[in-house]
Formats: sequence, structure tokens, C-alpha cells
Amino acid sequence: MTPSNTENAPSKPDEPAASKAPAAAASAPKPAAERPYSPGLEGVLAAETAIGYVDGANGRLLYRGYPIGQLVEKGTYGQVAELLWTGEWRRTARLVPAELPEPVVCALHELPEHTHPMDALRTAVSVWGAWRRPHWPPTVDQVRELTSFAPSALAAFHRIRNGQDPVKPNQKLSLAGGFLQQLNGKDPDPAAARALDAYFVVGAEHGLNASTFTCRVIISTRSDLASAICGAIGALKGPLHGGAPAEVVSQLHEIGSPEKADKWVREAIARGDRIMGFGHRVYRAYDPRAAALRKVAEGMADMADWLDTAVKVEDVVLRIFGELKPDRVIKTNVEYYAAAVLQGVGLPPDLFPPTFALARMAGWGAHAIEQASADKLIRPDARYVGPPETDVPSFGH
Ligand code: ACO
Repeated sequence: MTPSNTENAPSKPDEPAASKAPAAAASAPKPAAERPYSPGLEGVLAAETAIGYVDGANGRLLYRGYPIGQLVEKGTYGQVAELLWTGEWRRTARLVPAELPEPVVCALHELPEHTHPMDALRTAVSVWGAWRRPHWPPTVDQVRELTSFAPSALAAFHRIRNGQDPVKPNQKLSLAGGFLQQLNGKDPDPAAARALDAYFVVGAEHGLNASTFTCRVIISTRSDLASAICGAIGALKGPLHGGAPAEVVSQLHEIGSPEKADKWVREAIARGDRIMGFGHRVYRAYDPRAAALRKVAEGMADMADWLDTAVKVEDVVLRIFGELKPDRVIKTNVEYYAAAVLQGVGLPPDLFPPTFALARMAGWGAHAIEQASADKLIRPDARYVGPPETDVPSFGH
């Protein structure tokens, strides 16, 4: 049986579409059974984008043409976010943490004690959407507002779950600095704020990954920005996408000291376990984001001991991968040194994934705007592999 391209008009196998609509048949795609199928959409081009370029073979990442390493050195998250949204590199561009609307604070107070911070952030964005009603198409103003809102919401949730009152943002601080200030109730150490800002720059955009694709699919239906970002947060919550840095921390804790790394890593690989912070679907070279974050971590005051262990363990892991899997290039990925930075600025591990979401808000917003301007419903097809057409059994009444 040939599946139909429309939701509600199944065609019978003995009724070729051409006999009903000859004009449409000329442009109709081949039947699904004759088209190539790519599990996980691997290698499928599903959009054209001018936002970011992930060059996996050469380990390059560009935002609107600018290399990520230079953006971390010379820019702030405020400048980078505006660059992603508008294509313009402006010295004066700035993002400041927003005050929370009352319905969001009320909703955060109502969440059960055991709520995961990713669920809290998704809920906060949903309530923001109900309150703000950002209509399609998404605009730079909407995206800027939501990006400035999200760190305040996550910080408020963290304080509420610890029995503390949310604090108002100090709007003289950067978005990253304001996030730390609202978490801890005092202005942050400027070096920590700069390190987290650099992490935000590195996490801001990465092509058509699962959460960005989810965001684009939702916007393509002409649904609103808040719905698209809730979907994106849901996709990022999955451990295959946004969960690795916390596991890097526990992995290094388990290894204990660099001398024990060789044995630990060989045993883990022999068991078929994954070594967290290594390997990538796209990169076949050292992840440029890992290189940028390693530099940031090296500049952080209290990280020297942890980093010393991390660097030595990294050398061991890369040597063993080269030896055991010579045909597959498995290098350090962004999450390895993201763990160092997030830990160094004092975040608890369960805030690592939603903090990644705060950073990625810029990229999601840019893709939402770009998708809306393309204004094309994303609706792929599935190859039908179920039972053939058959009559519904009669129950005899
Ligand atoms: N540890 C051990 N083996 C690995 C690792 C790893 N970290 N990464 C890849 N491999 C091996 C696999 O065992 C497999 O070996 P085999 O061919 O002998 O079976 C081979 O490399 C290919 O693995 P796939 O999962 O098919 O490769 P893919 O490119 O889809 O994997 C992934 C990418 C999921 C990130 C993988 O490298 C992994 O699990 N890494 C650890 C988790 C991690 O660090 N995730 C963060 C990624 S960065 C990000 O999402 C922002």
C-alpha cells in the first residue's frame, strides 16, 4: 500500500494518483517505497541557513562567518546573540537580565519539590508565552525578550527549591553575570561572570541539531515562539543531546587520579560504555568549542587541580581511542571542558543542562526567525511498513 502525502485522503493501491490529478502528478514526489530512507535524517539537508556553519571535517564552527574562537576572545554573549539574530556585529549590543512577570513566579512556586530544572525552565517559558502572547512570525524583539527572561526564571526556580525568595536582577550586569547574581543573591566575581559569558557564546548556536530542528518544525506550522522554545527545551533534555557535562564530572570523580585512567578507560570501552565528553556525530576533528572552553577554564582561579587531572585523563583517553579505534576519529567534544567551566562558576550539576538551554536560546531564536521568513511547512514523509489494507473484522451485529 502506498502511503498518502496528505493527512486525511488515503489512496488505494489500485488507484494511482495520476488517474485522479494528472497536473499534480507531474510534480509529485516518487512513492515513498522508491525514495531513499535515512534513519535519524542523517545526511539529509532539511534547511538552508545563513546563521552558523559546522565544518565537521576540519573542526571549524562559524557564526555568520566569524570563527568561534575569535568570537569568544573578542565578543560578549550580547553581541553574539544580536549577530545571530540580525547578522550585524555591533559593539554596543547588550543583553540584560529581565524581571520576571508575576504569573511566572507564581507558577514556579507551585512546582513539586522534586521538579527537574529542565522541566522548570520549560514550564517558565510556557507561562511566559501565555502571559506575553508572542504571535507568529517571531521577531528579534520577541527573541531578545525571551533570551533575557530565561536566566532569571531558572535562577528563581533554583532559589525557590532551596527555600529562598527570588531576587531582582541587577540590570547593570551581563546576562550571564545577572544569572549568577540571581542564583546566589549577590553580585558575582567578575571573572566568573566572564567565564560563564564565554560558555554562553560557545553554546549559542550549532547548526541543525535536534533541538534547533524541533524549534524550526514548530515555527514552520506558524506556531508561536514560546511553543517552539518549549519544544526545543524538551529535545535538549534528552541525554543524547544536552546531558553529557554532568556525567563528565562524575566520570572524573570515579577515575580519581590520572594514573588510574588507563585501566578505567580500557575497562569502560571493553564493557561497551561511552566515555563522556568524547566523540561527535559531525566533528571528525578536535571540537573547536572544546578548544575555546579549555582556554577559558585555564584562566579560572580555582580550577587548576581539577583541570590538571582533566587534561591528563584527556591525553590517556585520546591515546587509547587512537589505539583501539584507529578507523574512527574520536576526539574531545565541547562537553568535556564545558563541565570545567560550569563547575568552576559554582553551578550544581543538575543546572548544567538548563544552563546550556539558556545559551542556546540565541541560536534557537535566530533559527525561529529564519524559518519563519522561509515560511515553508516542514512535513517529511514516512515509508509505510505496516500490514496491507484489510477489512475491519465484523462482530456480527
Ligand atoms: N566512547 C566510547 N566509544 C565511542 C564514543 C565514546 N565517547 N564515541 C563513539 N564511540 C564509538 C562507538 O562505540 C562506535 O564504535 P563501534 O563502531 O566499534 O561500535 C563508534 O565509535 C561510532 O559510534 P556512534 O554512536 O555510531 O557514533 P556517533 O557519531 O553517532 O556518536 C556520540 C556521537 C553520540 C556523541 C558519541 O560519540 C557518544 O556517545 N559520546 C559520548 C557522549 C557525549 O560526550 N555526548 C556529547 C556530545 S556533544 C553534544 O551533544 C553537544
